Amino acid sequence: MNFKSTDNQAFSKEILKWYRTNPRELPWRGTTDPYKIWLSEIILQQTRVVQGLPYYYKFVEQYPTVKDLAEAPEEEVLRLWQGLGYYSRARNLHFCAKQIWFERAGEFPNSYSELLKLKGVGTYTAAAIASFAFSEAKAVVDGNVFRVLARVFGIETDIASGKGKREFQELADQLIPQDNPAEYNQAMMDFGARLCVPNKPDCVNCPIQGSCFAFNNQLVNDLPVKINKTKVRDRHLHYFVIRCGESWVWKKRSSGDIWEGLFDFPVIEKEKESLEEGLAIPLKAVEPKKFPKKYRHILSHQRLHAEFSEIEIPDENRSSLENWAEQEGYLLVEEEKIEYLAKPKLIVNFLTDQGF
Ligand code: ADE
Repeated sequence: MNFKSTDNQAFSKEILKWYRTNPRELPWRGTTDPYKIWLSEIILQQTRVVQGLPYYYKFVEQYPTVKDLAEAPEEEVLRLWQGLGYYSRARNLHFCAKQIWFERAGEFPNSYSELLKLKGVGTYTAAAIASFAFSEAKAVVDGNVFRVLARVFGIETDIASGKGKREFQELADQLIPQDNPAEYNQAMMDFGARLCVPNKPDCVNCPIQGSCFAFNNQLVNDLPVKINKTKVRDRHLHYFVIRCGESWVWKKRSSGDIWEGLFDFPVIEKEKESLEEGLAIPLKAVEPKKFPKKYRHILSHQRLHAEFSEIEIPDENRSSLENWAEQEGYLLVEEEKIEYLAKPKLIVNFLTDQGF
């Protein structure tokens, strides 16, 4: 048998049957509250389920309703998000919560097309929320679903292309059962995440092995096809950890670059690794002392290389330091308050190495 020649229900029936004997108990599965589902999906855009779970619990506890999130200060939301990366997602989450609470009287968008209008909500997340909360028959299509469909149906179109995305979404929307879209979408997510995984899928235990095009044609390792065109840029960051007693100089990152709104240190950025000049501080300072460890951090389109130097300012220069920091838009933060700042992972890693 091959699913191409049978009706769509044959495929969805098998996937649902597998799911019902292998369900994962996840906290957002027992609810139809669109707010909680939205929260879980935005967190899961970012990370795997195991790593996402503690964040989901933290957010639901701190902000049980969209009103609580809408009324929270942005810095608190970013601090709670710390460690997940892609902070624009947390900012969008907060922005939308405010929009829903203050401009829509708390009414959550209740259809796929309305959900798509939310900042940060793309086709996958809109389909997930629409199906889980409102039983709308819109199929989720992400890396897991691309993989399952490409293998089972033998589709060789590049999943990174516009054509591929349209083709897979169309097929997925044909396959989704109209009377049970929520459970089917969950089943597809789990089937791709747990059985039909990228490397060494569990074909031996797969209930649809006999109907899988890739399995029958020895193409399991070749599908899906993804042509990677992403260019990755290298950036060299030379950070200066400037301290005066227990006060540290911090910098809030501005818009238009990575880590908007998070805190790091004064920095000089160079195309190359070497740094000839130091930071121009018009203060009597101890010579910068370079920390030997070099840090690397990978973002989706950037490879960051970071080094840190420490500069100690004698206490008698405190007021000049304060003036200079204010002029430059920097912030003096007491050591015991550092843990409350929302910081990029790279900076957290550095601090951890310093015993924080
Ligand atoms: N990944 C993204 N959304 C998910 C969900 N609702 N359940 C499990 N894994 C997911």
